[in-house]
Amino acid sequence: MARSPVVTGGAGFIGTHLVRALVARGMEVAVIDNLSSGSIDGIKDLIDGRKVTFHEIDIRDKAALYGVISGKEGMIYHLAADPRVKESVGQPVESFDQNVVGTLNLLEVMREKRVPCMVFASSGGTLYGDTDVFPTSEVVPLKPISPYGASKAAAESYMSAYAGSYGLKIASLRFANIYGPGTNHGVMYDFFHKLRRDPSRLEILGDGRQAKSYLYISDCVDACTLVGDWLEKQAGGTFEAYNLGTRTCEAVTDLARLMVDILGLKDVKFEYTGGSRGWTGDVVKTMLDVSKIERLGWKPRVGFKEGVERYLASLKAT
Ligand SMILES: NC(=O)c1ccc[n+]([C@@H]2O[C@H](COP(=O)([O-])OP(=O)(O)OC[C@H]3O[C@@H](n4cnc5c(N)ncnc54)[C@H](O)[C@@H]3O)[C@@H](O)[C@H]2O)c1
Repeated sequence: MARSPVVTGGAGFIGTHLVRALVARGMEVAVIDNLSSGSIDGIKDLIDGRKVTFHEIDIRDKAALYGVISGKEGMIYHLAADPRVKESVGQPVESFDQNVVGTLNLLEVMREKRVPCMVFASSGGTLYGDTDVFPTSEVVPLKPISPYGASKAAAESYMSAYAGSYGLKIASLRFANIYGPGTNHGVMYDFFHKLRRDPSRLEILGDGRQAKSYLYISDCVDACTLVGDWLEKQAGGTFEAYNLGTRTCEAVTDLARLMVDILGLKDVKFEYTGGSRGWTGDVVKTMLDVSKIERLGWKPRVGFKEGVERYLASLKAT
C-alpha cells in the first residue's frame, strides 16, 4: 500500500471521496488540482490536519509537476481532466490539451522520476461509443464519438506505451456514470434542479430511451483502492483496463420516474426534446461487462434505488 500517493483532480467530486478514503487508510496524500471545477472545501479539514498537502497546479504545466512530484511517491491516482462530454464537442482541442497533454506530462514525470504506478479515471460509455455489443467487455474495439471519449482513448494508448517501453504499472478504470453526494453535473443533478425550479414539468433531453449504467461513489472509490493495491503487486510493464459499473442499465425516463417518486412529486409532465441522443456525442446505450474487475474481488454494494435516495437526500440538504 503506497504510503504517499498523489491524487490529481483530488478536489473534484470523485477525487474528494478518494482522498478521504486514502487518508482513512492511514496515508498522507498530495493533491494536485487547478480548481477549474473542483473546490478544496471537501478536503479542507484534511489539509488543516496535515493529512493532505494541496498543490494548486495545472497538469498542463509540466515544470510545476516536476517541482511537486519528488519520485518518492509510489502511486498516482490520475483523475484530473475536463470531464464535460457535451462541451468537448465544441472544444475538441481544449479537451485534448487537458486530458491527453496533461496525462502525457504526468507520464513523463513518472518515467523520469521513477514513480512506478498509476490508476487512471477513464470512461466506459464514451470509449466504446455506439458499439452494439452488450454487455460491453474490455476487448470490444474503442470507437469514441465525442472528443472527450477520444481523449480518454488516446490517454490509455500512451499509458499502454509507457508500460511497454518504460516498465510503468498502470490500470485504467473505465467508469460508468458515477454519482453520489458532491456530484455537481450530469443527469440526476440536472433533473433535481429542474424539478426544484418547477415541480410540474421536467424537460428530458432526447427521447428518454437512452440507457446508461450508474455506479454509486463509494463503490467507485472501493474499486480505485482495490485496483491500486493489486497494481502494486504486479511486475513492471503492466497495463490493464477494467470496466467499472453495474451489470444493469437504466433508461433516462425510468430514472426520471424514480426521482419523481423518491421526491414525492405528483403529475409531473415529462417533456422530451426529441431525437435518440441527448446531444451530439451522447452515447445512446452503455452497459458494461464488469466480470474482469469482479475477478479481482470487487463487487458493488449500493443498489441503484438506494444510491439515488442517498444522493437526493444530500442534494435536498444543500
Ligand atoms: N463522474 C463521472 O461519472 C465520470 C465518468 C467517467 C469518467 N470520469 C472521470 O473521472 C475523473 C473525475 O471526474 P469527476 O466527476 O470527479 O469530475 P470533477 O470535475 O468533479 O473533477 C475533476 C477535477 O480535476 C480538476 N482539473 C480539471 N482540469 C485540470 C487540470 N488541467 N489540471 C489540474 N486539475 C484539473 C478539477 O478542478 C476537478 O477538481 C475525470 O477524469 C473524469 O473524466 C468521471
